[in-house]
Amino acid sequence: MKKIALGSDHGGFRLKELLKQRLEQEGYAVRDFGCATPEPAEYPEIAFALAQAVAAEPEEYRCGILCCGTGIGMSIAANKVKGIRAALCADCFSARMAKEHNDANVITLGERVTGPELAWEMVKTFLAAEYRHGVHEARVRALTEA
Ligand code: RB5
Repeated sequence: MKKIALGSDHGGFRLKELLKQRLEQEGYAVRDFGCATPEPAEYPEIAFALAQAVAAEPEEYRCGILCCGTGIGMSIAANKVKGIRAALCADCFSARMAKEHNDANVITLGERVTGPELAWEMVKTFLAAEYRHGVHEARVRALTEA
Protein backbone atom coordinates (compact mmCIF):
# COMPACT_ATOMS: atom_id res chain seq x y z
CA MET A 1 0.00 0.00 0.00
CA LYS A 2 1.29 3.46 -0.91
CA LYS A 3 2.11 5.63 2.09
CA ILE A 4 0.82 9.05 2.96
CA ALA A 5 3.67 11.40 3.86
CA LEU A 6 2.81 13.69 6.78
CA GLY A 7 4.75 16.64 8.11
CA SER A 8 4.40 19.79 10.17
CA ASP A 9 6.26 22.46 12.03
CA HIS A 10 5.26 23.48 15.57
CA GLY A 11 2.41 25.63 14.17
CA GLY A 12 0.78 22.57 12.63
CA PHE A 13 1.95 19.93 15.07
CA ARG A 14 -1.37 19.24 16.81
CA LEU A 15 -3.20 19.01 13.48
CA LYS A 16 -0.55 16.69 12.05
CA GLU A 17 -0.86 14.40 15.10
CA LEU A 18 -4.64 14.34 14.80
CA LEU A 19 -4.51 13.55 11.07
CA LYS A 20 -1.94 10.82 11.69
CA GLN A 21 -4.19 9.18 14.27
CA ARG A 22 -7.29 9.41 12.04
CA LEU A 23 -5.47 8.14 8.93
CA GLU A 24 -4.01 5.18 10.81
CA GLN A 25 -7.43 4.40 12.28
CA GLU A 26 -8.76 4.30 8.71
CA GLY A 27 -6.03 1.84 7.71
CA TYR A 28 -3.71 4.17 5.78
CA ALA A 29 0.04 3.67 6.00
CA VAL A 30 1.65 6.90 7.16
CA ARG A 31 5.24 8.12 7.21
CA ASP A 32 5.76 10.99 9.62
CA PHE A 33 8.48 13.43 8.51
CA GLY A 34 8.21 15.38 11.79
CA CYS A 35 8.29 17.49 13.70
CA ALA A 36 8.17 15.09 16.62
CA THR A 37 7.36 17.58 19.40
CA PRO A 38 5.55 20.94 19.66
CA GLU A 39 8.90 22.73 20.09
CA PRO A 40 9.83 25.31 17.41
CA ALA A 41 10.74 23.63 14.12
CA GLU A 42 11.78 24.95 10.70
CA TYR A 43 8.97 24.44 8.21
CA PRO A 44 11.21 24.68 5.09
CA GLU A 45 13.33 21.75 6.27
CA ILE A 46 10.31 19.53 6.87
CA ALA A 47 8.58 20.58 3.66
CA PHE A 48 11.72 19.96 1.56
CA ALA A 49 12.32 16.51 3.07
CA LEU A 50 8.73 15.41 2.51
CA ALA A 51 8.43 16.97 -0.94
CA GLN A 52 11.70 15.44 -2.14
CA ALA A 53 10.54 12.00 -1.01
CA VAL A 54 7.11 12.33 -2.64
CA ALA A 55 8.62 13.64 -5.90
CA ALA A 56 11.40 11.03 -6.00
CA GLU A 57 9.32 7.98 -5.06
CA PRO A 58 5.84 8.23 -6.58
CA GLU A 59 5.50 4.45 -6.33
CA GLU A 60 6.08 4.71 -2.57
CA TYR A 61 3.93 7.74 -1.70
CA ARG A 62 0.32 8.37 -2.60
CA CYS A 63 0.54 12.02 -1.54
CA GLY A 64 1.85 14.37 1.10
CA ILE A 65 0.07 16.39 3.78
CA LEU A 66 1.87 19.35 5.31
CA CYS A 67 0.59 21.42 8.22
CA CYS A 68 1.88 24.71 9.60
CA GLY A 69 0.22 27.70 11.21
CA THR A 70 -1.32 28.98 7.99
CA GLY A 71 -0.30 26.33 5.44
CA ILE A 72 1.40 29.12 3.49
CA GLY A 73 5.03 28.49 4.37
CA MET A 74 4.62 24.77 3.74
CA SER A 75 3.07 25.37 0.32
CA ILE A 76 5.75 27.85 -0.73
CA ALA A 77 8.50 25.48 0.35
CA ALA A 78 7.00 22.29 -1.11
CA ASN A 79 6.35 23.95 -4.46
CA LYS A 80 10.05 24.69 -4.84
CA VAL A 81 10.68 20.97 -5.31
CA LYS A 82 10.42 19.89 -8.95
CA GLY A 83 7.51 17.56 -9.54
CA ILE A 84 5.54 18.80 -6.55
CA ARG A 85 2.14 20.40 -6.98
CA ALA A 86 1.24 21.51 -3.47
CA ALA A 87 -2.17 23.06 -2.89
CA LEU A 88 -2.95 25.23 0.11
CA CYS A 89 -6.59 24.53 0.91
CA ALA A 90 -9.06 25.85 3.46
CA ASP A 91 -12.30 24.34 2.13
CA CYS A 92 -13.49 21.00 0.76
CA PHE A 93 -14.28 22.31 -2.73
CA SER A 94 -10.68 23.45 -3.17
CA ALA A 95 -9.40 20.16 -1.76
CA ARG A 96 -11.40 18.28 -4.42
CA MET A 97 -10.42 20.63 -7.25
CA ALA A 98 -6.76 20.42 -6.23
CA LYS A 99 -6.83 16.76 -7.20
CA GLU A 100 -9.39 16.81 -10.04
CA HIS A 101 -7.93 19.75 -11.99
CA ASN A 102 -4.37 20.24 -10.69
CA ASP A 103 -3.43 16.66 -9.83
CA ALA A 104 -1.95 18.03 -6.61
CA ASN A 105 0.36 15.56 -4.91
CA VAL A 106 0.61 17.54 -1.67
CA ILE A 107 -2.09 19.34 0.31
CA THR A 108 -1.12 21.97 2.84
CA LEU A 109 -3.27 23.03 5.77
CA GLY A 110 -3.18 25.78 8.37
CA GLU A 111 -3.84 24.69 11.94
CA ARG A 112 -4.46 28.33 12.95
CA VAL A 113 -6.90 28.81 10.08
CA THR A 114 -8.83 25.57 9.70
CA GLY A 115 -10.52 23.70 12.54
CA PRO A 116 -9.54 20.07 13.04
CA GLU A 117 -12.81 18.54 11.86
CA LEU A 118 -12.88 20.62 8.66
CA ALA A 119 -9.24 19.73 8.07
CA TRP A 120 -10.07 16.03 8.39
CA GLU A 121 -13.01 16.40 5.98
CA MET A 122 -10.67 18.12 3.53
CA VAL A 123 -8.11 15.34 3.79
CA LYS A 124 -10.81 12.70 3.17
CA THR A 125 -12.13 14.73 0.24
CA PHE A 126 -8.64 15.10 -1.24
CA LEU A 127 -7.95 11.37 -0.88
CA ALA A 128 -11.30 10.39 -2.42
CA ALA A 129 -10.95 12.73 -5.41
CA GLU A 130 -9.54 11.56 -8.75
CA TYR A 131 -7.56 13.49 -11.32
CA ARG A 132 -9.80 14.20 -14.34
CA HIS A 133 -7.02 14.18 -16.99
CA GLY A 134 -8.48 15.48 -20.31
CA VAL A 135 -8.09 19.22 -20.80
CA HIS A 136 -6.03 19.43 -17.61
CA GLU A 137 -3.21 17.25 -18.96
CA ALA A 138 -1.36 19.95 -20.90
CA ARG A 139 -1.65 22.44 -18.05
CA VAL A 140 -0.38 20.02 -15.44
CA ARG A 141 2.44 18.96 -17.79
CA ALA A 142 3.40 22.63 -18.17
CA LEU A 143 3.62 22.91 -14.38
CA THR A 144 5.71 19.77 -14.13
CA GLU A 145 8.09 20.88 -16.87
CA ALA A 146 8.55 24.45 -15.58
C1 RB5 B 1 5.13 29.50 12.85
O1 RB5 B 1 4.90 30.44 13.84
C2 RB5 B 1 4.47 29.92 11.56
O2 RB5 B 1 5.13 31.02 11.01
C3 RB5 B 1 4.44 28.77 10.59
O3 RB5 B 1 3.81 27.68 11.17
C4 RB5 B 1 3.69 28.98 9.28
O4 RB5 B 1 2.42 29.52 9.50
C5 RB5 B 1 4.41 29.61 8.20
O5 RB5 B 1 3.88 29.76 7.08
